[in-house]
Amino acid sequence: MKKHLFGITLLSCLCAATQANAASNILVAYYSKTGNTQIVAQEIAQELKADIYEIKPASPYPADYHTTTEQAKEEIKNGIKPPLADALPNLSAYKVIFIGTPIWWGHIASPVRTFVTQGDFQGKTVIPFCTHGGSGIASSQNDIKTLATGANVLDGRCFYGSSATNSATDIEHWLKQLKLKGN
Ligand SMILES: Cc1cc2nc3c(=O)[nH]c(=O)nc-3n(C[C@H](O)[C@H](O)[C@H](O)COP(=O)(O)O)c2cc1C
Repeated sequence: MKKHLFGITLLSCLCAATQANAASNILVAYYSKTGNTQIVAQEIAQELKADIYEIKPASPYPADYHTTTEQAKEEIKNGIKPPLADALPNLSAYKVIFIGTPIWWGHIASPVRTFVTQGDFQGKTVIPFCTHGGSGIASSQNDIKTLATGANVLDGRCFYGSSATNSATDIEHWLKQLKLKGN
């Protein structure tokens, strides 16, 4: 019986160690209203075996595109940070944090503004990414640089939202250039 208990204890210690080793110090945090940015985020997380966190606004945006654009325009104009549905993940566990956003009127989406403002990014490497409908990265990188106080914000990448499902190769190349594997 004693031997049996010893075996179980040893096994659970070994499992805990494996989990600790497997823990990633890379986080992919993203907001996505219609799924494009989520596709890119999932690809990055899968490629780097990183943790993933979806930024969710407490009140979802209207289904209607035009209504959303009008609401977003007001939010951007007034610097509004809509409350989020969930608590932030423990950012202190990560060295590198990817932040993904759709481009909204040339800027980061409002829930991302809340996330970046609430989080403590001091000493972190932050890598922005986005999806867009034609404008490219626009001011989104500057938004993140301004809000993520104390972070080293690297050059971000933006992908056409309509091609998100075909971006795997581009994403792979980009990640290789960043040389993050083994972090
Ligand atoms: C409120 C709003 C504003 C947008 N503004 C822009 C813009 O300024 N430039 C652009 O290229 N696309 C713009 N788009 C298109 C989105 O950036 C694009 O469809 C993106 O891939 C959506 O990502 P998601 O599916 O993750 O929400 C806008 C979309 C919305 C809803």
